[in-house]
Amino acid sequence: MNAIIDKLVVDRPEDGLFKVHRDVFTSPEIFDLEMTHIFERTWVFLAFEGQVARPNDYIASWIGRQPVLVTRDKAGTLHGFLNSCRHKGARLTTRECGNSRLFVCPYHSWSYAPDGKLKSVKDKSTGHLPPQFDGEDYDLAPLARLESYRGLIFGSLSADVPPLADYLGGARALIDLVMDQGANGMELVPGRTVYTYGANWKMQVENGMDPYHLTSAHQSFMQIVTQRNARASDLSKIRSRDFSRSVGAEAGALQFSHGHGAVWITNMTPEQKPLYDDIEALVARVGAHRAQWMLNFRNLVLFPNVQLADSESLILRVIRPIDVNTTEMRMFSLAPIGEPAESRALRIRQHEDFFNVSGLATPDDTAIYEEMQAGLAATGAGYQRGYDRGATLLGDGADAAAAGAGIAADASLTGPFKLQSEMQYQPIYREWKRLMAPAFEGVAA
Ligand code: FES
Ligand SMILES: [Fe+2]
Repeated sequence: MNAIIDKLVVDRPEDGLFKVHRDVFTSPEIFDLEMTHIFERTWVFLAFEGQVARPNDYIASWIGRQPVLVTRDKAGTLHGFLNSCRHKGARLTTRECGNSRLFVCPYHSWSYAPDGKLKSVKDKSTGHLPPQFDGEDYDLAPLARLESYRGLIFGSLSADVPPLADYLGGARALIDLVMDQGANGMELVPGRTVYTYGANWKMQVENGMDPYHLTSAHQSFMQIVTQRNARASDLSKIRSRDFSRSVGAEAGALQFSHGHGAVWITNMTPEQKPLYDDIEALVARVGAHRAQWMLNFRNLVLFPNVQLADSESLILRVIRPIDVNTTEMRMFSLAPIGEPAESRALRIRQHEDFFNVSGLATPDDTAIYEEMQAGLAATGAGYQRGYDRGATLLGDGADAAAAGAGIAADASLTGPFKLQSEMQYQPIYREWKRLMAPAFEGVAA
């Protein structure tokens, strides 16, 4: 029995109890342990393959607090390295992405090829170096593992991780429902937003699949859409979701191994989505049932740092923890390659309307995260609660809805929208507990 970890995450389904201690969101010491025991020990999302599509493309990313570089060499092979010069450690690029045949260190100009090989040491011939110098390895330090699934590139600093496909497990079917939307594949719409919020990274992990907050935190969005439609204003052409139609919908929650979770809601107004604009071709290609699931609202969280949300629009959202109460977000709009210009324009308008940092919803959420972090300073309250909402409906494996969509969930439930399950958060904290347990081994409570 590991006393501290069992107090931090209380997971006793036999007693109908699941709760997470507030220290998990507020303790700088626990944050440091999360970086070493979670981010540096498991698969972490790094980049979308389209961002490094051509030879010599690169993108700078992070595994927890460690800077990494994902490159494609001239032969087309993907690589992942620590973004740190072997001389004195400077980052080899401070740019977020680009195309370069050579990484020249800004400090003393040691240079590296995109395959990580050291190409030159400035003024080596005049350096009076000992003969042993050439016997050492100065190539960029590679990540222990680098793999991709359907365009999503993940890296790990530890070799002791399962193959990526196994790590993603049943959640792969939900990735497929995104990546199969385009007959010619999917791409990131050019541009991205980067923003920070002053709260813990797990606020975003939970919120990325939180149906319970929609009718509370986003009331203004709901009212604005209703009023636009009533007045047939120009902005009603954005075709944003009328939440009042969602209230009667069917919804579900899914639990997967390794910390992943998802929620879905039947889309009562599928015609609002740009994907619906060419529905006949979509149905002909993927079948009516999968097409319907592509049009449903589905939010997937892949532990620990990436989300595919397909709701008001389709986004890829990456979480970068900075410190215990600072988190940096990167958000991209995902789209079928070659979709008609009007559909693309509609997609961008919908993205701006809801998800963009200047939109009507993301500021609601980030302001709430900061309110939570402020409220969590009240340490006497002990635990975060509510992780049992939906518990009596949850069943092992995939229920009829999940199985019908080909989703091999570990556990699942289906109910009316108003159920607003919180079951999908349990895998986050089970995986958190599994990875963090060694940090508390032998430490008395
Ligand atoms: S730190 Fe890179 S060349 Fe000196
Ligand atoms: Fe939200």
